[in-house]
Amino acid sequence: MRRIDQPTVQRILDTADIVDVVSDFVSLKRRGSGYIGLCPFHNERTPSFSVSKSKNICKCFSCGQGGSPVNFIMLHEQMSYYEALMYLAKKYGIEVKEREMTEEERKAEGERESMLAVNEFALEFFRNSLNSTPDGRNIGLAYFRERGISDTMIERFKLGYSPESRDALAKEAVAKGYSPDYLVKAGLCYTREHGELRDRFRGRVIYPIFSVSGKIVAFGGRTLRKDKEIAKYVNSPESVIYSKSRELYGLFQAKRAIAAADRCYLVEGYMDVISLHQSGIENVVASSGTALTEGQIRLIHRFTENVTLVYDSDAAGIKASLRGIGMLLSEGLNIKVLLLPEGEDPDSFSQHHSSSEVAAYFKEHETDFIRFMTDILLKDAGDDPLRRSKVISEIVRTIALIPDEITRTVYIGECSRMMAIEESVLTLQVAKERAERAHRAAEDAGRARAAQSIASPAPAADNLSGQAVTPAPTTQQPAPPLKTRPLSEEERENRHFLLQAEHELMRYALKYGAATLADTETSDGNTIPVTVLDYIDAMLAEDDIRITNLALASAYDAALNLLRTRWDEDRDGRMARQQADDAEAFRLGIEQITRSAIDMSSIKRAEDALHQQIATDSARAIDEYACNYIERILISDPDDNIRRVTTELVSEKHQLSKIHTKFSHVETERERLPVLVPRAIADLKYATVELRLHRQRKALLDAQQQNDSDAIIDVMRQMQELNAIKMELARFLGERILSPKK
Ligand code: CTP
Ligand code: MN
Repeated sequence: MRRIDQPTVQRILDTADIVDVVSDFVSLKRRGSGYIGLCPFHNERTPSFSVSKSKNICKCFSCGQGGSPVNFIMLHEQMSYYEALMYLAKKYGIEVKEREMTEEERKAEGERESMLAVNEFALEFFRNSLNSTPDGRNIGLAYFRERGISDTMIERFKLGYSPESRDALAKEAVAKGYSPDYLVKAGLCYTREHGELRDRFRGRVIYPIFSVSGKIVAFGGRTLRKDKEIAKYVNSPESVIYSKSRELYGLFQAKRAIAAADRCYLVEGYMDVISLHQSGIENVVASSGTALTEGQIRLIHRFTENVTLVYDSDAAGIKASLRGIGMLLSEGLNIKVLLLPEGEDPDSFSQHHSSSEVAAYFKEHETDFIRFMTDILLKDAGDDPLRRSKVISEIVRTIALIPDEITRTVYIGECSRMMAIEESVLTLQVAKERAERAHRAAEDAGRARAAQSIASPAPAADNLSGQAVTPAPTTQQPAPPLKTRPLSEEERENRHFLLQAEHELMRYALKYGAATLADTETSDGNTIPVTVLDYIDAMLAEDDIRITNLALASAYDAALNLLRTRWDEDRDGRMARQQADDAEAFRLGIEQITRSAIDMSSIKRAEDALHQQIATDSARAIDEYACNYIERILISDPDDNIRRVTTELVSEKHQLSKIHTKFSHVETERERLPVLVPRAIADLKYATVELRLHRQRKALLDAQQQNDSDAIIDVMRQMQELNAIKMELARFLGERILSPKK
């Protein structure tokens, strides 16, 4: 799929008009400078979904969903980035030139297509056999009926039946021209000694397995025999189109419901998914009896952050699965647990209860995962102090996996109450655990780098947070371990100021990145424009400051990258077009002037005015292009994080600053950038210095306690330096400093 070439991607993004795209799904009314309608992402009676034609984005001011045209299609149609691009290309009749494939790719692609085609055929064969053959109806259909499965579900999940005969499918497939080779590769058949084809699934009911985009990638076949000799399930083997660890049963049918409910239920088996659907719970997928993999978790994460694990009440099963949960937590998902009544699994439970009973039970019995885990483990340990301490460290390890600082703090508070342990003790333990983990990750990364002996100068993450940073997936390196200690109230506040300052500065960086902030004179007397991004980058480098929020940092990196790689060429292209437009405008203007001219001097005056006008308009158009350049591209970036952060920052409502000039002209944010950007940088530096000072004060206390006079002098010297910088910044920032209270 990822073979659309870059110019075509850009053409699609440039062509797609947000009003146009949204209007296919939402009825929009004009309101002020934009449009407004009922949000398609949540239920509402009064419209809060607003669409800005000039910014080419949409956003719901109630639920927060929205974004660029691609983003809207991804959300609304539950498509991947590339599927959404293809959708838009089709809508606008843009021909997609696929990148030239290598010989190898072409072969692999051909193979994939052929395997999907035989699966397609098999799907119809199994379905037809279930619904329209005597055996299928008497055996297969009777089985589903006996298990209480409705015809609607049989149709929705495309259930089927594979006849008893040893090669019914093989024969029909070959007769229709499908190659035996692909039948075997797709796992529908296997060969005997003499090359005869045998059907893999014969005599079984069939559960087709669809990829998230609805391609038929595999089948599961359940035997109807009771004897234990035979395997209960036979599944398609792994192949180039099917990797068990990367699919989730039911996701294709569930994805819309998952996004709408903003929650995904996770069960074990095929039947669990189908029966719950029948009971009206449609946001459910199955891991197919194995432990969840990272790929499956990412898949869920595309649709929601909230996962509920549905368990039978058998305790052994629960404890076994506790281990796999770490991965869900470290992916940043919020996890709940739902325990079914004694002796029920999701399938039997939904068959034994009405839809409303199921809904009510699901609603009332969800418990928070960490609370649940703490509860059963503590009960298990009883009063045995040794076992209790083991439980505590297990819970500490689990909480330490959660990437979000605030969520961690909440859990620490809760567990401290449940386990009757001081909150500060738990905080300390969690911080230690995180530091150790980061240390290990750094070592691993170091080893990996050493092994590859690549000398790419990756920047080390700054540790202003006072905390170990989770091993970052992007360009930033994991932080070295820090002295571990809980965040004090004051430090927390400092950190809050710092994040605010980062947020504000990054808003300028993404909203106005390519705009000219000032002109600078080079040594040879020429002036060259300095863009907002250039300036920010230079100023941050000066004091070795890095953006600590990872999401902001990745968007910032992407912005810089755009400026360095594409901006010059794009700007030149835009300028050339502008010059052509200007020339045309000038020609038309002159025509007009000559027609209505009275005398030579008035022609001269009119010409001068025309020149002036065109120059002003032209400069404004170019400036507008520069202002919007970075955000326009990044709101449609393939990276989920970058897209989200940019959309958020760009659509943020900021107050129009009420600065009136003496001509009573209200200055725009754009005009005030030469003041605002340096201030935002100073704010960030100030917050950074505060944090560093705060640490030095602690270090000073330590040193004093240990009577280490060398260390005391050293720390004091550093503090003096920091204080000097702080004074300077404070002077610059003037009265505006809202210093964290001492
Ligand atoms: N499974 C599998 N292969 C097996 C056993 C199990 O793929 N050999 C997967 C299937 O997805 C199955 C799930 O694990 O749905 C749970 O297995 P199990 O509880 O044994 O089956 P049920 O789904 O409960 O099937 P049924 O209710 O029809 O007995
Ligand atoms: Mn079952």
